[in-house]
Amino acid sequence: MLQGLVTAAYIGASALFIASLGGLSHPETARRGNLYGIVGMALAVLATAAGASAGGWALLAPSLVIGGIVGALLAARVAMTSMPQLVAVLHSFVGAAAALVGIASFFGSEGHATGAEAVIHSIELFLGVFVGAITFAGSVVAWGKLEGKIRSKPLLLPGRHGLNLALLLVVAAMGVGFAMTASVTGSVALPLLLGMTALGCFLGWHLVMAIGGADMPVVVSMLNSYSGWAAAAAGFLLGNDLLIVTGALVGSSGAILSYIMCKAMNRSFWSVILGGFGSDEGAAPAKGAAIEGGAEPLVILAADLADRLLSARSVIVVPGYGMAVAQAQHPVRELTALLRKRGAIVRFAIHPVAGRLPGHMNVLLAEAAVPYDLVLEMDEINADFCTTDVVLVIGANDIVNPGAIDDPTSPIHGMPVLPAWEAGEVIVFKRGRGAGYAGIENPLFVLPNTKMLYGDAKKSMDAILTRLRTPEA
Ligand code: TAP
Repeated sequence: MLQGLVTAAYIGASALFIASLGGLSHPETARRGNLYGIVGMALAVLATAAGASAGGWALLAPSLVIGGIVGALLAARVAMTSMPQLVAVLHSFVGAAAALVGIASFFGSEGHATGAEAVIHSIELFLGVFVGAITFAGSVVAWGKLEGKIRSKPLLLPGRHGLNLALLLVVAAMGVGFAMTASVTGSVALPLLLGMTALGCFLGWHLVMAIGGADMPVVVSMLNSYSGWAAAAAGFLLGNDLLIVTGALVGSSGAILSYIMCKAMNRSFWSVILGGFGSDEGAAPAKGAAIEGGAEPLVILAADLADRLLSARSVIVVPGYGMAVAQAQHPVRELTALLRKRGAIVRFAIHPVAGRLPGHMNVLLAEAAVPYDLVLEMDEINADFCTTDVVLVIGANDIVNPGAIDDPTSPIHGMPVLPAWEAGEVIVFKRGRGAGYAGIENPLFVLPNTKMLYGDAKKSMDAILTRLRTPEA
């Protein structure tokens, strides 16, 4: 009876997770999607707890309380701009958990089953621990790079592809040895398992160390996918159907997201995971290096921009990472409302990798209650830049870099960008000469129709609003 209820709860939780993914695919339904996910997870935890033995409860209850408190504290404190780091840390937990479940399962099953069943179980176990170890070490490195604890430049060891291939072959050979000996008590199976875990950690470390700055979002999404497959493998070992389904959902959605992000940056998935972007061999000049002929950008003051905006009939806002840092989304929404009230057409152009995590700008604009119908994807708005009076680039840089289109030596050449320079006038809000995430110069800043409004984006926005609110404006 209890088992039947647990199974029913697992099916309900699986359905809620699928509905959650569906909801999260659009800003308008994302809140609902989150709610489905929360209810599904609560149901899954309750059902698992209900099925636990009395002895299991003694371990489960403190884990739930401690894990719940740590998780809630972390999530409440993390800044929106540090969300990718948090996600990377959480992936490392999933990887570590999967590897530990596999090792524990080995101790539980050593010498028990025999025959084909034992071989299949050993292969599951070996693969689960391997993927878990790669995910754990890779996610720790991704966290370190995103947090600035590890340099973001790729570590390119000589012959690194050969080294990775050799490691994979060694692990495969160890896997064969493990599957053949795992059911024999006191055999070499345990050293093989632990040796492979160490190699898996090294491979995860090496793979992510070789990947540089601008590709880190794809790596985090790829590790998300790995963590899903690692969880699914743990589900097979524990005989837990819900863990298998959830792991497969996370694994496949992470893989699809990685693919979408690669497409948005015009990079092949393999060139990303084999690393090297932003290396010393690349064409990226040093941060703040002079652009062609030492051209200096033109500058505009907030008050003058406010006056200019009064006569603009059409405005496109391009938000980027700097808007998130400055938390300028609220005054941006206010400016939008003010200009629209005066009859201007104001829209937002969202690049798929603007900011530091997928959907970063959509979340900020939704938080500031910017109407969804004003927020357009790159494909929907790119053709309209040439007929727009003013483009406000707010803390964005790489995503409006014309070098991505016309400079074959640019490290981001081929990445689709928002053609802000096609508009009548472009105003760039930034604090100074800081480069974007890819660490490269942006020729947009010295074009004749571009003007820089230097300063924190929120302060600049506030100054524009103050000017527009004065009676003579
Ligand atoms: P970035 O190219 O990183 O440029 C952000 C700009 O904001 C900088 O040039 C900086 O210049 C400015 N800025 C920073 N703080 C500011 C503030 N308080 N006020 C005003 N400006 C400020 O941003 P982007 O155009 O959004 O491009 C995103 C980049 O991040 C891409 O290269 C993408 O590949 C990468 N990335 C994306 C993701 C995802 S999934 N979205 C995740 C990780 C990385 P100053 O320092 O001069 O102010």
